[in-house]
Amino acid sequence: MKLSPSMLSADFARLDDQAHAVEAEADRFHWDIMDGHFVPNLTFGPLVVNALRGRVDRPFDVHLMIDHPLDYAPRFNVRPDDSIIFHVETVDDPQAVIETISRIPARVGITLRPRTPLSRLEAYLDSVSLVLVMSVEPGFGGQAFLGAALGRIRALGNMIGDRSIEIAVDGGIRADNARPVIAAGADILIAGSAIFGQPDPLAAARALRQAAS
Ligand code: DX5
Ligand code: ZN
Repeated sequence: MKLSPSMLSADFARLDDQAHAVEAEADRFHWDIMDGHFVPNLTFGPLVVNALRGRVDRPFDVHLMIDHPLDYAPRFNVRPDDSIIFHVETVDDPQAVIETISRIPARVGITLRPRTPLSRLEAYLDSVSLVLVMSVEPGFGGQAFLGAALGRIRALGNMIGDRSIEIAVDGGIRADNARPVIAAGADILIAGSAIFGQPDPLAAARALRQAAS
C-alpha cells in the first residue's frame, strides 16, 4: 500500500516544512484544490502547488474539487509521475479533461462524490491511471469515514478487472479503518487529520502504515 498525506490538514504557514517532516513515511503528497463553488470551502491553487513542487521530492496528487477543471489543470506545473484528479460531476465531457491532463503530461485520476454512481466512471477506465474513492463528502478534513465506501471500493475493483489502475481512498482514514480499506482493494490511503492533526505527524504516519499492513 502507498500512503499519501493530505496537506489540507497541515499548517498552511509552513507547508514545505510540514511535507518534509513526514516525507520518510510518505509515498506521495495529496493537494486538495477547492473553489468555494463545487465545494463550500477554499484552499490553494496552482501558484501555491507549483511553488511547493520545487521544494518536495515525492510525487504529487492534485485533487481538483473545482468547476472548470479543463481550464485549471494545465496551470499546474506537475511532473509526469504526478496525478491530476478531477470530479466526473464537474464536466460534460470527461474525455476532453482526460486528454488535456495526459498532454501536460501527468497521470490522469478521476473521482466522484460518495453518492454519485460508480457507473459514471465506466466509460473512462481505459484512459485513467487512478480512481479516487471519496469516503467523505468533499470539502473538509476531519470528517468520519462513510462505511459505504468499502462496498464501493470492492465494486470498483470488479469494474476495473485486470486494467492497471490504482484505487485511492480519501476521507476519514485512520488507524482503526486502514486495514479494512486495504482489504477491500485500496492501493493508496490518503490521510490528513490522522497525520497532521496529531502531535507527532511522522509517528502518526508510521502508525497508520503499520495499521494497514
Ligand atoms: C476532503 C479532501 C480530503 C481530506 C481528507 O474534501 O478531499 O483529501 O484532506 O482529510 P481527512 O483525512 O482528515 O478526512
Ligand atoms: Zn482530497
